[in-house]
Amino acid sequence: MSSADAAWSRMLADLDTRSLRRSLRPLETPQGTEVVRDGRTLLNFSSNDYLGLASHPAIIAALREGAARHGAGSGASRLLCGSLPPHGELEETLAAFKGTRAALAFSSGFAAALGTIPALFGKGDVLILDKLAHACLIDGSRLSGATLRVYPHNDLDRLESHLGWARKNFPNSRVGVITESVFSMDGDLCPLAEIVALKERFDAVLYLDEAHAFGLLGAGGRGLADALGLAPRVDVQMGTLSKAAGLAGGYVCASRAAIDLAINRARSFIYSTAPPPAIAAAAIRALEIIASDEGNQRRQRVLGHAAHFAAISGLGPVPAAIFAVKLGEESHALESARSLEASGFLVPAIRYPTVPKGGARLRITFSAAHSRPEIDRLTLAIAHGLEHLCPAVLPKAAKKKGELGALGQRDHGTMRI
Ligand SMILES: Cc1ncc(COP(=O)(O)O)c(C=O)c1O
Repeated sequence: MSSADAAWSRMLADLDTRSLRRSLRPLETPQGTEVVRDGRTLLNFSSNDYLGLASHPAIIAALREGAARHGAGSGASRLLCGSLPPHGELEETLAAFKGTRAALAFSSGFAAALGTIPALFGKGDVLILDKLAHACLIDGSRLSGATLRVYPHNDLDRLESHLGWARKNFPNSRVGVITESVFSMDGDLCPLAEIVALKERFDAVLYLDEAHAFGLLGAGGRGLADALGLAPRVDVQMGTLSKAAGLAGGYVCASRAAIDLAINRARSFIYSTAPPPAIAAAAIRALEIIASDEGNQRRQRVLGHAAHFAAISGLGPVPAAIFAVKLGEESHALESARSLEASGFLVPAIRYPTVPKGGARLRITFSAAHSRPEIDRLTLAIAHGLEHLCPAVLPKAAKKKGELGALGQRDHGTMRI
């Protein structure tokens, strides 16, 4: 073993002892609500395929047709010869969908943030981020070279004081506020109306990551900014086609100047081969479905599942399709996830560094493809697990209503912790 390998092995062993080691555990089936892993069938509550579009026949057909018409790969970066008809069409569709002057597609949401933030902000500017902003927003901000400030999660007073500080000390700079609309690991919303008012008061730019709101909130699934009538006042709306659209890719919707600057400066766009044209073609089809009556029905179904879970679990509101059961210790979260898996549920343990140290949790995600009995089964399994671990929390609220009691008459799997 080389000395580097020995050092890397020690680092892995250290992760092991802190219950922080990750490993790949592939599924043996396609993405869906019922999956097979290690030969066992599991009910999947860990996917971001919120609308169940990853297996939609029309989107799969669009992928096939797109590959047949436009080829398998793009061959080069967009700025060389990789810009093919579906890329431009997707960008026009995204801009029309979001009501912005322009849009730019990337090969992932991560690449969108990593390229766009440093394209629009640089040394001498100030970026102010929510403490729970996604890794791609943090990394993009670091890469920009701007001065960074972080405010505690959704803390408007601290955001205001950072904005005041930035305007006083950097009077002629661009000041950006970066946040998510639905937080990926907590499932809560940012106070968007207040953030918009603040950024306008301080002449700042708002960069909003709608990754987990796209497809779910707002008219036709246009996102939280649309739901609150604030879309025209958000400067940059970012999102991903990897979650509710069931595919892969990221996008940024903004003014013509912002998009043209990204085309000229976003390194993850310029120095990366264009996404396969078939994915862009299929994304156009996914957007049509998301905005259609079928999309509305799928939205209602997944948001209905989340509301039902919130009501019968007594665990609190679920404003979109993500719910975090916060357990604190990493080992508790791991043990709980293993126990749920033993009972037939795939619910991931989320640990540091994805969430703060000591903030480990189970992250539950709902899909339109789930059935109501499947939500009931999960709720009961979680309830039994929590009864064991945190008896004060869940069963009291839920059993008071007698609803979990009724569920318990049926034959459901339970989590043993
Ligand atoms: C809030 C947020 N932004 C961006 C991304 C990155 O999107 P993608 O998976 O398309 O790279 C994710 C996905 O994990 C996310 O949760």
